[in-house]
Amino acid sequence: MGDRWYSEAVVYCLDIDTYADSDGDGVGDIRGLIGRLDYLARLGVTCLWLHPIHPSPNRDDGYDVTDFYNVDPRFGTLGDFAELLHQAQNRGIRVIIDLVVNHTSDEHPWFQSARSSPDSPYRDWYVWSDHEPDDRHQGMVFPGEQHETWSYDRTAKAWYYHRFYRYQPDLNMANPKVREEVKKIVSFWLQLGVSGFRMDAVPFIIELTEPGNPNSPKDFEFLTELRQHVQWRRGDAVLLAEANVEPDQLPTFFGDGSGSGNRLHMLFDFMLNGRLMLALARQDPEPVIEALRDTPTLPTGGQWATFLRNHDEIDLSRLTAEQRNQVYAEFGPDEEMRIYDRGIRRRLAPMLGNDRRRVELAYALQFSLRGTPVLRYGEEIGMGEDLSLPGRHAIRTPMQWSYKENAGFSTAEPEKLVRPVIDKGDFSYQKVNVTAQRSDPKSLLAWFERMIGTLREAPEIGSGSTTHIDVPMPPGVLAHRADGPTGTMIFLHNLGTEDVEVDLSSLAPEADLPIDVLTDRGYGEVGKLDSLKLAGYGYRWIRLCRGAAF
Ligand code: GLC
Repeated sequence: MGDRWYSEAVVYCLDIDTYADSDGDGVGDIRGLIGRLDYLARLGVTCLWLHPIHPSPNRDDGYDVTDFYNVDPRFGTLGDFAELLHQAQNRGIRVIIDLVVNHTSDEHPWFQSARSSPDSPYRDWYVWSDHEPDDRHQGMVFPGEQHETWSYDRTAKAWYYHRFYRYQPDLNMANPKVREEVKKIVSFWLQLGVSGFRMDAVPFIIELTEPGNPNSPKDFEFLTELRQHVQWRRGDAVLLAEANVEPDQLPTFFGDGSGSGNRLHMLFDFMLNGRLMLALARQDPEPVIEALRDTPTLPTGGQWATFLRNHDEIDLSRLTAEQRNQVYAEFGPDEEMRIYDRGIRRRLAPMLGNDRRRVELAYALQFSLRGTPVLRYGEEIGMGEDLSLPGRHAIRTPMQWSYKENAGFSTAEPEKLVRPVIDKGDFSYQKVNVTAQRSDPKSLLAWFERMIGTLREAPEIGSGSTTHIDVPMPPGVLAHRADGPTGTMIFLHNLGTEDVEVDLSSLAPEADLPIDVLTDRGYGEVGKLDSLKLAGYGYRWIRLCRGAAF
């Protein structure tokens, strides 16, 4: 493995409350997760990203924090968390946690104090206005569920700013005391042993909010400052950021332009995510080819994090209206599948019609593209969504472990569960669960284990450079390659339904005993690369050659 572990990592994200309940109270907990670490090790993941673990009134699934220095008592204790870190480390698995410091819960003692009096030492920790700001009804992140970004607080007798829900007042990052506190929070968790943070809502963290100015300036220096702090405290810790911004702004989040990556190590590739969805919907790789071509050059050490699904909606806001409608037509035809006028609240398997070939194709493609793959819990067994649940909860149902009641997630009475398990239809736990799949070598879970194992033997995917192979291709087929010191891999993915034949003989001079390392079926010899068969929705990962030293 190269020096930068995150470039060759496989990240798995989960919510502790819906993963595994060890004490039968209906809520997943840390001890439950510890009990599943062997499962995760066998799957091959090398890093867990835990959604917020802190005490919270839980109105936004934990993204509304009341104490940054503790774990939610529903999940266990800090002692349990330290044990989790130890047990994960024993299995070679790192842990990163969500760092949600754009805002706190309005129940956080800081906000309670701040609102109580203009003289509170915490007053200036939040963003206030004495008069109603003109941009009160602009910049909402959750249209339909959120109606304003400035709300009047009667106790404070002032307006406060909240980029997200009204119970999530924004912290004032212009205040040096707040910046110091964020560094203290980060230090605390690094000291306990986390390997870094998934930073929530970064473009909003660095916003220097001015009442009445919907385009307030941003303070990128804070990211440079935080990076230095993190790296000084722990050399191998990473910052993986959510920054869903226009492509031309992305490089500024990685570094200050001096050529060094001195801000965030990794950014989720939201642009690629939208293009992947469009490509899958159209059965045409062109949007992905464009995404590869338009990717800004990253400073040394900068890395993309790729994903198909996360805990939020699939955000299609950066597609044109026409493109978005194509994706809606294919993957979110019913109004109830859509959310916030921009996205889809579904899991991948149901979006792809539960077509096993297409699910494999989509994940093989994601994992073979440049960057570090992030996989959401339950996707490895092809879980579905529950559209009867409100908003994003549709895709946040408990992990389906077995045929037992409550999907083996908990022994509590069903009505006590944090969220109901899916028990109807093609995605019910009776049909989709870990127990069924772990003993079946043909299952999706077994496929994920194999695919991830193959990826980990091909470090050029994460650490090397990825390019589109620009030679004539049958419609629907994407050919790309990854090159690094360890060698070269080539990839064929057929997004269309037709069986085709591909000619990559122009690469033959570079080949040194080329072989298929991952395919959807047996295709026979790779030969001279001049007549590579590829089935509809098929894929072939081919090792072209190894680097001299490998
Ligand atoms: C991020 C999270 C989302 C949360 C929001 C507010 O966008 O991904 O789940 O609701 O921030 O913290």
